[in-house]
Amino acid sequence: MKKRKISIIGSTGSIGTQALEVIEKLQDKFEIIALAGGHNRELLDAQAKKFNPRYTVLGEQGLEKICSDKENDIILVACSGKIGLRPTLTAIRNGIDIALANKETLVMAGDIVMAEAKKHGVKIIPVDSEHCAIHQCIKDLSQVDKLIITASGGPFLHKSVDEMKNATVKEALAHPKWNMGKKITVDSATLMNKGLEIIEAHHLFEFDYDDIEVVVHPQSIVHSAIEYKDGSVIAQLGLPSMHIPIQYAISYPERFEGIKSKSFSFSEIARLDFEKPDFDKFPCVKLAYKAGRIGGTMTTCLNAANEEAVFAFLNGKIKLYNIYEIVEKMMSEHNVIQNPTIDEIFAVDKEIREKTIKYLTGLHQ
Ligand SMILES: NC(=O)c1ccc[n+]([C@@H]2O[C@H](COP(=O)([O-])OP(=O)(O)OC[C@H]3O[C@@H](n4cnc5c(N)ncnc54)[C@H](OP(=O)(O)O)[C@@H]3O)[C@@H](O)[C@H]2O)c1
Repeated sequence: MKKRKISIIGSTGSIGTQALEVIEKLQDKFEIIALAGGHNRELLDAQAKKFNPRYTVLGEQGLEKICSDKENDIILVACSGKIGLRPTLTAIRNGIDIALANKETLVMAGDIVMAEAKKHGVKIIPVDSEHCAIHQCIKDLSQVDKLIITASGGPFLHKSVDEMKNATVKEALAHPKWNMGKKITVDSATLMNKGLEIIEAHHLFEFDYDDIEVVVHPQSIVHSAIEYKDGSVIAQLGLPSMHIPIQYAISYPERFEGIKSKSFSFSEIARLDFEKPDFDKFPCVKLAYKAGRIGGTMTTCLNAANEEAVFAFLNGKIKLYNIYEIVEKMMSEHNVIQNPTIDEIFAVDKEIREKTIKYLTGLHQ
């Protein structure tokens, strides 16, 4: 079998390093064209030495080069935040399939990205465990009535609202189930991550927001489910590990053993719990539904305000709960552009970030 040629954007991050662990086990299946990191030169050099890509790139500038390189069969987009959008679009326009971890890409510009993928006949395979689960469950989209996205609930699921409001960065980063980058871990603590996933699911599977449900499932064994027209529910289960969805996404439509999950035992797991999410305690999910239903640049606004607010929280400038308040304020003042061009999306992204930073500065004067 011909080796699949792959590049990884964000190879030095949580998803990127796990992707390389997968590829290490599947050396006869993959050839690495390029690896890209953000700032971690040391790790990128060590990866280059071990995996021998044709070239490496550090920083945002080099990403366009990788995504224009038609040698690639597939590119894993595993950088965090807004920087994923531009290279993803470039890769799509060059006919390169995408394994998409960077959820902000679809939140910022899902309509444009999915339309371009259709136009260029490009596959977008989700890496997020929830969307990967749905991707695995769906045989015929037209027969499905509802998507059911599971949420672990993060570190504050059973803590009081006050404990959550006064949470330290360390407490917010202590996710009970998943070891991830800082931005997504804070998003998991506010449950904004689930909100971003709802918007991502809407675009990936072309589902109305009314037909996308969230259920809290603290064990993170059921990664998500779908309900067919006749009420039958198909769920995908597995032990919590990002290696498996990464491996699935870069190997699709094949499945390789590579990193094999420990054999699944229902009797060892013994119980699975589910509960309704408390949207009053975690109002970021409501904001995401609202932004998604309004559409246009409102989700770009939500993403930009959230990202800047999360950085401010990580830098000790605001409290965890302020993230919600800031995103809500930016959304309430945003003049939505429906059917925006990509330039309008980037302009809104810039404007909201500047406005959020200005507002945050004002809070400290
Ligand atoms: N981690 C998970 O389990 C998980 C699960 C589902 C979805 N996701 C999504 O996957 C994406 C990545 O998450 P993560 O947890 O892997 O994040 P992460 O650990 O913070 O890694 C981010 C990666 O992006 C790179 N990067 C940062 N700034 C860059 C720039 N200006 N130019 C090029 N690269 C840059 C970083 O490089 P340096 O470290 O070298 O600066 C790093 O390789 C996010 O969108 C997240 O929502 C993650």
